[in-house]
Amino acid sequence: MLALHGYFPKTLSPYPIGTPKLETSIVLCKDRILKVNCCNPNRQTERGIEFDIGGAFYRHESSTGRDLGILAASVDRQSKGGLRVLDAMCGCGIRSCRYLMEAEADFVLANDANDEYRDLIVGNLKQVERDETRWVVCHSEANRVLTERYLQRDFFDLIDIDSFGSESMFLRSAMLALRLGGLLYLTNTDGYSSGGHRPRHSLDAYGAFVRPLPFANEIGLRMLIGGAVREAAVLGYHVTPLFSYYAYHGPVFRVMLRMNRPKILENRDYGFIGYCNRCGHSQAFSWEELGKIGCSCCNSEGSRQGFVVSGPLWIGPLHSSDCITQMLDLAAEWGWVGNGAGVELEKLLKHMLDESDPRLPPGYIKLDEMTRRAKMNGPPLRMLMRTLQEMGYAASRSHIASSAIKTDCGMAVLTKLAKELVSVPQS
Ligand SMILES: C[S@@+](CC[C@H](N)C(=O)[O-])C[C@H]1O[C@@H](n2cnc3c(N)ncnc32)[C@H](O)[C@@H]1O
Ligand SMILES: [Zn+2]
Repeated sequence: MLALHGYFPKTLSPYPIGTPKLETSIVLCKDRILKVNCCNPNRQTERGIEFDIGGAFYRHESSTGRDLGILAASVDRQSKGGLRVLDAMCGCGIRSCRYLMEAEADFVLANDANDEYRDLIVGNLKQVERDETRWVVCHSEANRVLTERYLQRDFFDLIDIDSFGSESMFLRSAMLALRLGGLLYLTNTDGYSSGGHRPRHSLDAYGAFVRPLPFANEIGLRMLIGGAVREAAVLGYHVTPLFSYYAYHGPVFRVMLRMNRPKILENRDYGFIGYCNRCGHSQAFSWEELGKIGCSCCNSEGSRQGFVVSGPLWIGPLHSSDCITQMLDLAAEWGWVGNGAGVELEKLLKHMLDESDPRLPPGYIKLDEMTRRAKMNGPPLRMLMRTLQEMGYAASRSHIASSAIKTDCGMAVLTKLAKELVSVPQS
C-alpha cells in the first residue's frame, strides 16, 4: 500500500469531465450485496449500485460497514434536514456514491491522496449522480483537506475516515471540520494494539495502555472511541458512539461518533478496565478509583499479579439504542432487512440494540472460558441469558463473539448459576 503521509499532490479542484464506458455485464449474485461482473472483475455492485474499483483498495467484506454508515447518515439527514459529507479516504469512491444515492446527501467531497484514482472516482460518481453541483473530487492528504475546509469555515455533517492501522492523526482536523452535532465515522485495523501486544503504540495513538484481555476485539472499539473522547476534550467537545462495529476480516473496528459540547458534570464514561486472570472477572474503574483497583478474589498484595488493567478507554455503552432502532426501522423500510432479506444485517443490528443497554459493563464472557475454569459443561447460552434476565440482571449477546455473553452479573455468581442450571434436569 502507498505510504502517503506528507503527500500533498493537489488541493481542492473541480472534477474533470470524462466518464468511463460502461460494459454490458453478466452479474453473478453471490451474496445479498455483492455482485461480481465476470466479464470485468474490476466491476462490482453494492446494493444495486454498479461501480469500478480499478486499482484502488476495495473490500467487498466492508460493505456491511458501509451499510451501517449509510443508515446512520440517512437517519441523521432525516432529523436535521441536510447532509454534507466529507469522504476523506474514498478509494474508488463507493462510499461517496452511496452517501449520494442512498443517504441522499446534499453534497459529498470525495478525497483520496492518490491522484491516479481521479478518473476512476469521477467515473463512478458521474454514473450515479449527474447533478455535478452535488459532488467534488480532490486529491489532498486527509489532514490538509480537513484543515482547509475548517479554515474556510466549510463544515460537514459527516466525516468518514477509512484509514489503515491505528492512524489517529486525523482526529483533530476532522473534529475541527465537523459541524457541532455532526458525525465522525472512524476506522482502525490494528488488531495487534487492541490485542494488547503493542501497549506503547496504543498509548501513542490513542492514549491508552492496552494489555491482553479476553475480549480484545471489544477493547479495539473502546480504544478507538476513547482516543476520540480524549481528542474531543482538547477542543472542548464530547463524543459519544452511535454504533460500534467489529468485523473479523482485517480485523476492522469502526465507530460512528456524534460530537457535541459536553454537559457540565457529565459522566464521560472514560476510565479503566481491569481483568482478573485468576477468576476471570472483569470490571470498569473510574479515575477516582485509581489506586484501589483489584479483584475481590485476590485482595492480598501477593495474589494481585494476575490482575491486568488497560486504559484509559471508553467504558460506556457501545451504541445508542435510539439510533440503532431508527437504523433498523430504515433498513426495514428500504427492504435491507425483514421478509428473509438481509438476515445477517438484521441479526447484527438486533445484537447491537441488545448490547446498547447502559447497565452492561465493558467486556463479555466467553462461555467456553467460563466452563473451562469451572470444569463443567455449560448450559445453552439462550437459557443462561433468559435466567439472568429473569433474575434482574442485564444480559445480551455480543455482536463480536458468537458464544459469549455480556452481563452485569459477576463471574462468581454467573458460574454458580450455570452450575445450577446444568444440574437441574430440563423438562
Ligand atoms: C481503506 S482505503 C479506502 C477504501 C474506501 N473508503 C472504500 O470504502 O472502499 C484507504 C484509502 O486512503 C487513501 N489514503 C491513504 N492515506 C491517505 C491520506 N493520508 N490522505 C488521504 N488519503 C489517503 C489510499 O489511497 C486509499 O485509497
Ligand atoms: Zn478475581
